[in-house]
Amino acid sequence: MRRTAGPARGTEPRSPVRADESAEDRFRREFGRPPAGAWAAPGRINLIGEHTDYNDGFVLPMALPQRITVTAAPRDDDTLRLVSRQADARAELAIGDLEPGGVTGWAAYPAGVVWALRQRGHRVRGLDLLVDGDVPLGAGLSSSAALECATALALADLYDVSLAGVELAELARYAENEFAGMPCGVMDQAAAVLCRAGHALLLDTRSMATTQVPFDPAAEGLALLVIDTRAPHRLVDGAYAARRRGCERAAAVLGVAALRDIGNEDLDTALAVLSEPELRARVRHVVTENERVERFVELLRAGRLGEAGPVLTASHVSLRDDYEVTCPELDAAVEAALAAGALGARMTGGGFGGCVIALVPEERVERCAAEVRQAFDRSGFAGPAAFAATPSDGARRVW
Ligand code: GLA
Repeated sequence: MRRTAGPARGTEPRSPVRADESAEDRFRREFGRPPAGAWAAPGRINLIGEHTDYNDGFVLPMALPQRITVTAAPRDDDTLRLVSRQADARAELAIGDLEPGGVTGWAAYPAGVVWALRQRGHRVRGLDLLVDGDVPLGAGLSSSAALECATALALADLYDVSLAGVELAELARYAENEFAGMPCGVMDQAAAVLCRAGHALLLDTRSMATTQVPFDPAAEGLALLVIDTRAPHRLVDGAYAARRRGCERAAAVLGVAALRDIGNEDLDTALAVLSEPELRARVRHVVTENERVERFVELLRAGRLGEAGPVLTASHVSLRDDYEVTCPELDAAVEAALAAGALGARMTGGGFGGCVIALVPEERVERCAAEVRQAFDRSGFAGPAAFAATPSDGARRVW
């Protein structure tokens, strides 16, 4: 198994961050020359459609206002000099030495993108890169996909590689799968690149067809509260990969290319074919979750977001009982949010820790956050963080 944490090879701790120093000044201090530009990509939450992307199914993420920004300049050799303001660390790597699994920690993401571009035959060379941002790390809000996509955008611009939109997202996903060793689907990278302010992104992960669905909870007196449980989430370790393998095995037994091909109307027949109770439960989640995405989108389009709460909560229950990817902190946050008047709540992202989203009437947002904090306190969990999220824009050049 690949390691998930620990410094990148060649990573050294840095001197303490000067909080008021601009990214440009920090770049000059680190690399002794000016940057050529800055590129940013956002974190995301997934509104609904969880663990469906590697089953060729549907997802509905939105971009957060929090983003990862990379400030960069090209080099005329094959050296990568990477500094992370967030991780307070530095790595120096030779592009020729890059190999899957050879770099761990945050540096694997920008290095993986360089590696992936080279694999695909693009002539990118060295880079000085400063990473900065406010997407909470390790919270399941896709800071790694944001870092990959911001880096890919920077490299495409700096080395004149024609790469954008879905192709750029696919390349970033390839880097994460093959170089960082996380067998994720394409949702996070697609969200980081393709999301638009004021919209949720309906993505068919089989055809990669996208639809921007207007999403404005405030127009209906609602808010989307993100609760970061601060329970550490670790996706590279076995559980995520095991879920994925289980789905592939079930699809093979059922004689379909992917579980996406099982509709709600075929579910009972499919369940009768599968003998393992665990596989039956996994399939039930995926099939019903695809259906819930459709239902949620219908309600959104009809201006009936206020009725969509139970769809969110049903997704959580399915992820808890059938897919078994929640944890005590996620379940407690959902329960406390619902008790405090949320219309619906669910874990978002891969699970095993990370964040919950709750659809809450605006006037109850404070109370909801406070009650989740109290519930965590009573259970002896670390204090959660909470913020209201507005759908924001995908990756772009900053200057
Ligand atoms: C993680 C992965 C995504 C997706 C979600 C679950 O965030 O990176 O590809 O599978 O889990 O929906």
